[in-house]
Amino acid sequence: MINIAILGFGVVGGGVAEVITMNQEKIDAHLGEPIRVKKILDLREFPDSPYKDLVTHDDKEVFDDPEITVVVETIGGARIAYEFTKRALSLGKSVVTSNKELVATHGVELMRIAKEHNCLYLYEAAVGGGIPIIRPLHRCLAANRVVRIAGIVNGTTNYILTNMRVAGISYDEALSQAQANGYAEQNPAADVEGIDAQRKLSILSSIAMGGLYVSPEEISTTGISAITLDDINFATKIGCGIKLLAVFLNNDGCDKPATYVAPHYVSKKSMLAPVEDVFNGIIVEGNALGEAMFYGKGAGKLPTASAVVGDILEAAMPPEKNSTTKNWFAGEEGVRVTAKPEDIVVDIVVKAASGKAQALKDAFAQYDTEIVCDDSEATAIIVKKIAHKDIEAACASVDGKWLHYMA
Ligand code: HSE
Repeated sequence: MINIAILGFGVVGGGVAEVITMNQEKIDAHLGEPIRVKKILDLREFPDSPYKDLVTHDDKEVFDDPEITVVVETIGGARIAYEFTKRALSLGKSVVTSNKELVATHGVELMRIAKEHNCLYLYEAAVGGGIPIIRPLHRCLAANRVVRIAGIVNGTTNYILTNMRVAGISYDEALSQAQANGYAEQNPAADVEGIDAQRKLSILSSIAMGGLYVSPEEISTTGISAITLDDINFATKIGCGIKLLAVFLNNDGCDKPATYVAPHYVSKKSMLAPVEDVFNGIIVEGNALGEAMFYGKGAGKLPTASAVVGDILEAAMPPEKNSTTKNWFAGEEGVRVTAKPEDIVVDIVVKAASGKAQALKDAFAQYDTEIVCDDSEATAIIVKKIAHKDIEAACASVDGKWLHYMA
């Protein structure tokens, strides 16, 4: 019998209990022994829940119970969740989580504690919700050097941007609808300002770097709150959509990899173009594999719980049989792992007033360019491989507004 505890009985924690109940037979057969939720730790009561008798407010009932060998942390945040995770791992209890903030902030330390106590800290659900991405990166793609990751990793912002285009509504209206539908939090800053995507990119980049920790603080991040309906309509006009992308680039010959989160004009030809609404899509390019895309539900109760329960099954295996993760390690103190934001080289679209085609070509004469709009309303140019530090001055010279571009 494998006994688990769930810390935090919110949407995902509740989903974990539900998936285990729904698929009990299949899950027990996979493990070769029964699994059961023994305790649920939460400050609240759940009188209407079928699991109400498992709820405790006393953390000792989880931590002092030697029968509980796997702990699910679905509290969120990096305070109580951090303390409880450290405590569980220090007791040799494996922890599985969907908490990207905690993994991205304290992953190095928590994985080290897990290793020291012969248990596991697993986080498949922290990126892409139910989409398998962490384990494929660790295992199936281990033979590759990851040269690029480009992902729509935040469902809320993708929903807002899709809805602005489809319904022709403003950013504020689309955000209100996202909140009404339960996608965005009442305080939506972590989603709309790109912080959630930044944390997820920190996790993906650290794995892509073989465990060398890429702190969220290193990742240049712009959210979608400045995107207007005009921007969306203009994107459609030039054969693009606007998507918030999390990007990791580590091409051959790069001194250091580039990481950034920013709204992009994404060409309709891109594999990411059809990724709409709350769906996530993550392109991973390996130097042997080429490109692969991971696509599916990046959030939600049961999809996220699906990934968490998958990790529970991994954690329930004897540690010597488990090779799921590679621990992260910190780089040299005070030295960046990734390129400085100003040195990152990107493709962009610059939009200026009508009649400025020649001025745009002149402003970006030293780059590979292509005019993509030249009509009575606007002029726009794609500029390839321009360093961030050179963008603002060139745009200012033509009074242009720019966004990243992905072909
Ligand atoms: N707020 C996140 C999103 C939830 O919208 O993608 C899943 O991580």
